[in-house]
Amino acid sequence: MIEIKNLHKRFDGETVLNGVNLTISDGDTLVIIGKSGCGKTVLLKHLIGLLKPDEGEIRIDGIDITKVRRKKLYEMRKKFGMLFQSGALFDSMTVGENIGLPLREHTRLSDEDIRRVVEEKLRLVGLEQIENLRPAELSGGMKKRVALARALVMEPLYILFDEPTTGVDPVLADKINDLIIEIQKKLKTTSITVTHDIASAFKIGNTFAMLADGKIIFKGTEKELKENRDPRVKEFLKSSGTFRRRFRRINKGKV
Ligand SMILES: Nc1ncnc2c1ncn2[C@@H]1O[C@H](COP(=O)(O)OP(=O)(O)O)[C@@H](O)[C@H]1O
Ligand SMILES: [Mg+2]
Repeated sequence: MIEIKNLHKRFDGETVLNGVNLTISDGDTLVIIGKSGCGKTVLLKHLIGLLKPDEGEIRIDGIDITKVRRKKLYEMRKKFGMLFQSGALFDSMTVGENIGLPLREHTRLSDEDIRRVVEEKLRLVGLEQIENLRPAELSGGMKKRVALARALVMEPLYILFDEPTTGVDPVLADKINDLIIEIQKKLKTTSITVTHDIASAFKIGNTFAMLADGKIIFKGTEKELKENRDPRVKEFLKSSGTFRRRFRRINKGKV
């Protein structure tokens, strides 16, 4: 379970998180929505200790990771798999080396065992026999899959997805959403997805939270979100929907 309490973060006088409270129960597939620049990525980075809050706490299975020493923090990080917005594969390494990297850094598995786990995770994301290719030789969709395989390699309890479908075409976005849903079913992990794409959010999430003005202003089901009367929620749903419809029309060559 993850409990975020009264989290505050400022950058050079600009307040980004202004008292975030959010509890994520085991087995949840939570989607955090919110406008571009509202602090979604900043919030995710706090969960794995890449950023330190000015105030507040983050309890991961009871342990406040904002207070622990570096060694303990590294240990806690092993509970998380994270798929960053960019994918962030190392171009100089092969696919196999990319996926195996966390195992090489955090475990004492032999090369043979690492090869076996890499193969297994590749199969999990629907890829085979591409261990020796380099990221430059892969399509956008394959890169996302490889990055996902790497996020899963340590068998994390919690998976964080940062804008998994942003900047990809709608067809690929649907494929990535299907993959996320499949992985969630197979591994029964707890996942937190951050996105400003509302259509994707509804496909992959069972619980929704909205970040605005530095706070979680809503948490609940899809139905509750759609019925919420907060103008910030209504405005977000409206603009996100309009954008997607327009994008589809442009894609079909009608605009
Ligand atoms: N390391 C940083 N230093 C200074 N400002 C930052 C840093 N990281 C994020 N910000 C600022 O915090 C705000 C929220 O950013 P971010 O969490 O990336 O938004 P988003 O919701 O789009 O993911 C932005 O105004 C951004 O410029
Ligand atoms: Mg972001």
